[in-house]
This record gives sequence, structure tokens and C-alpha cells, in this order.
Amino acid sequence: MPEWFRTFFDRDYLDRYARVTDEEVTQREVDGLIHALELEPPARVLDLACGYGRHAVVLARLGYEVTGFDLSFDLLAEAELRAQGAGATVRLMEGDMRKLPFVHEFDVVVNLFTSFGFFDDERDSRRVMEGVHAALDEGGRLLLDVINRDAILRDFQPRLWRETDDGYVLSESEYDPARSRLTGRQVHVSAKGRVAESSFSVRLYSMHELRALIEAAGFEVESVYGGFDLSAFELDSPRIVMVGRRP
Ligand SMILES: C[S@@+](CC[C@H](N)C(=O)[O-])C[C@H]1O[C@@H](n2cnc3c(N)ncnc32)[C@H](O)[C@@H]1O
Repeated sequence: MPEWFRTFFDRDYLDRYARVTDEEVTQREVDGLIHALELEPPARVLDLACGYGRHAVVLARLGYEVTGFDLSFDLLAEAELRAQGAGATVRLMEGDMRKLPFVHEFDVVVNLFTSFGFFDDERDSRRVMEGVHAALDEGGRLLLDVINRDAILRDFQPRLWRETDDGYVLSESEYDPARSRLTGRQVHVSAKGRVAESSFSVRLYSMHELRALIEAAGFEVESVYGGFDLSAFELDSPRIVMVGRRP
């Protein structure tokens, strides 16, 4: 599949995901990550693949020095508007996570809501982790939050639908065990009859694979949780929330 992530995260993504990433959800995630990292302002935080800035803006309002980095012009434009609306200062940068331009600039890098595993070539994923490692100061930490593959596969639903503010989204996907990839499409049908279709393909990770990946980039894994409630990680945990330290 061509680089689907260049078009998937457009303005329609905002509508498709508005309900599942609302303010309440975001606040819970921010509270969880602050506790997991025992993070005190004004720590320097890179929100890698910040999307429309929902975490970055909340963190900046709490006094952290936040940089948001993302590939999507549409989502960055929305992040800019939201930061202005909230009176928050966030440095927003457009770029590809495979080519991170930072050297020893951050205390913490967060990568949230399954913003990892997009690339076809595994070497690209390794490159991202090496870039994250280089972006951190010594002793700096990475918090990764991705969906837990093992839990998804125990109750795999190839067809799912959910309501949006103006219609519904149908998600159809299939899982390829040879490559651990979930590939499919989302069809967004609005009440006015507008139909938008977007394709995706994501590499899913089990906990031990994610651990091996970040260890190979030079991190030491400090803790692994099953979600932002910071529950212990288990087979059925919805998320893998992994904290690694650059020694
Ligand atoms: C699932 S969204 C999550 C966004 C945000 N972290 C959140 O929780 O709302 C994934 C994000 O990754 C970004 N992205 C995809 N490919 C990227 C790349 N190669 N480099 C940087 N960002 C990328 C997308 O534009 C999108 O904003």
C-alpha cells in the first residue's frame, strides 16, 4: 500500500475521531502520563505525532514546554487554532518522524494513541526510535501508547461501526499474521449523504516486541502499563503504555 498515512489524517479524520478523542478522554490520558512519568513543569516535552494537539495544548497549559511534531498539515493547522484558543504556547513543527531533526532537546518524548507502526518497512520504525533516542537528553524518557495486539486478536472484529457527530463510521479490516499488520478502510457516512473513504495499514505489536524494539534503540524499559489508568499490563489490557529511559 502506498504511504496511506499521508492522506488518512485529513480534515475528515477530525470528524471521524472527535468523539473518541474528546476532552474527557484526553484529560484522562494526560493525567495518566503525568503520573507515569512523575512529570513536573517546566519539563521539555516532544509530542511526537501530536495530531490536532489535544495533549500538547493541555500539557502547555500546565506549564510544560511543549513541541508538537506531525506530518499532517490539516491536523497541525487545527492544533494551531486550538493552542491559540486556549492561550497556550506550543511549538508546532511539520515533518516526518523518520527524519527527526532534534539532538538532546527533550526530557520526555510521548507518542500517543497508536501513532507508531505505520511504515511498511520495519527499518523505518527502527529509525524512528533511534531519532527519539537522539532527541532526548541523557536520562530522558519515552512514553509510548499503542493498542495491545494480543487483546485485539482474542476478540477480533473485522467489521465495526460507531457514531460520529454527523453520521457514522464503518471500519473494515483484516489481520495478516505473517506481518502482524491490520489493514483496512474506514467509510464515513454523514447524515447529509456525504461519503469519505480512507485506507490504513498498521503494524500491531505485542508487548515483548515493542520492548525489544525500544531496547534495540538503546532504551531501558522502566515500566509497562495496560492503559492510562496505570493498571498492570495483562493479556487483555486495551493498551500498551510503555515507559523507556535513555540511560
Ligand atoms: C492516530 S493519530 C494520533 C494523533 C495524536 N497523537 C492524538 O492522540 O490525537 C496519528 C498521527 O500520526 C501522524 N503521522 C502519521 N505519519 C507520520 C509521519 N510519518 N511522521 C509524523 N507524523 C505522522 C498523523 O498525521 C496523525 O496526526
